[in-house]
Amino acid sequence: MRDRLLALAESARREIGGASELSAVEALRVRYLGKKGELSGVLGGMGKLPPDERRSLGEVANSVKAELEKLLAEAVERAEAAALEAQLQGPGLDVTLPGRGVALGSRHPVSRTMEEIVRTLSRLGFDVASGPEIELDYFNFEALNLPKDHPARDMQATFYVDEATLGHAKKADSSVLLRTHTSPVQVRYMLNRKPPIRAVMPGRVYRRDSDITHTPMFHQVEGLLVDKGVTFAELKGSLAAFVTAFFGSDTRTRFRPSFFPFTEPSAEVDITCTNCAGKGCRICKQTGWLEVLGSGMVHPNVFTSAGYDPNEVTGYAFGMGVERIAMLRYRIDDLRMMFENDARFLEQF
Ligand code: PHE
Repeated sequence: MRDRLLALAESARREIGGASELSAVEALRVRYLGKKGELSGVLGGMGKLPPDERRSLGEVANSVKAELEKLLAEAVERAEAAALEAQLQGPGLDVTLPGRGVALGSRHPVSRTMEEIVRTLSRLGFDVASGPEIELDYFNFEALNLPKDHPARDMQATFYVDEATLGHAKKADSSVLLRTHTSPVQVRYMLNRKPPIRAVMPGRVYRRDSDITHTPMFHQVEGLLVDKGVTFAELKGSLAAFVTAFFGSDTRTRFRPSFFPFTEPSAEVDITCTNCAGKGCRICKQTGWLEVLGSGMVHPNVFTSAGYDPNEVTGYAFGMGVERIAMLRYRIDDLRMMFENDARFLEQF
């Protein structure tokens, strides 16, 4: 039995010494030292030996086992080192290859522009507010000095929400509509507060318009400032400050007399063309100027609707179209691109 043991040790030494791969080393471990391995096989008959022989054979068996374990551990190390070396020598990893980037989404130019407008005005001290898109005729028109038969209602082709859509009994008097501008938020905001007021109100608006330069839904940002003794000079100063902060310090402003029922006097604000810096080009139709917002001093009737005394306070308001400003800012020449959601377009922002 001792001879078999020594012969087994001898062949194991040789084979382990020659094994160069991890899998081969593992196979040898199982073959020699495993539960059903050769060592167990040889020692299986040991129980029948007399005690003396059993003890001395046990010692030999233990030392063979210990030796083989050590040899196997060394073989594992060798095999691992060899594998690593092979990897280092091989074609391996080319760290100069460009990586595969993670495709990130980007914010829509309209959202970006709206956030930037709001941020710029926040820096001038305006609080941010919002109101409902499905609005009452009262807030969208009446309270803004636009009574039922006022011809200026035609300036904004309105979507009315009918009785059937509302889903409950309602007088069919067209009193519910999709807001045509963000100006109704002015009135709602004032109703809940006392002056002084400084607020910027971004949101979606709806008009029955659809062509190359109009979409039935678009975005506006409204501004409102109310206090004692606010003057038109402050309106001019604040809007000029907004324009330079938003479009750059070289941009100049021009105020043109205009009309809105809810402001008096009213002015439209032009800026020097963002494309040609005022020289005249296709974008500004050779005028050098671009219209960017409507504005004016809050009409006394609007203050009365909001519960303010027009003899006590004055204020200014303005409103601008976000898509238009985004187009000027990013030099996009077709409004439809804003709503097509073509990834090749959106990825550029
Ligand atoms: N609500 C106007 C529009 O949609 C813009 C405006 C707002 C004008 C506030 C004056 C004051 O055209």
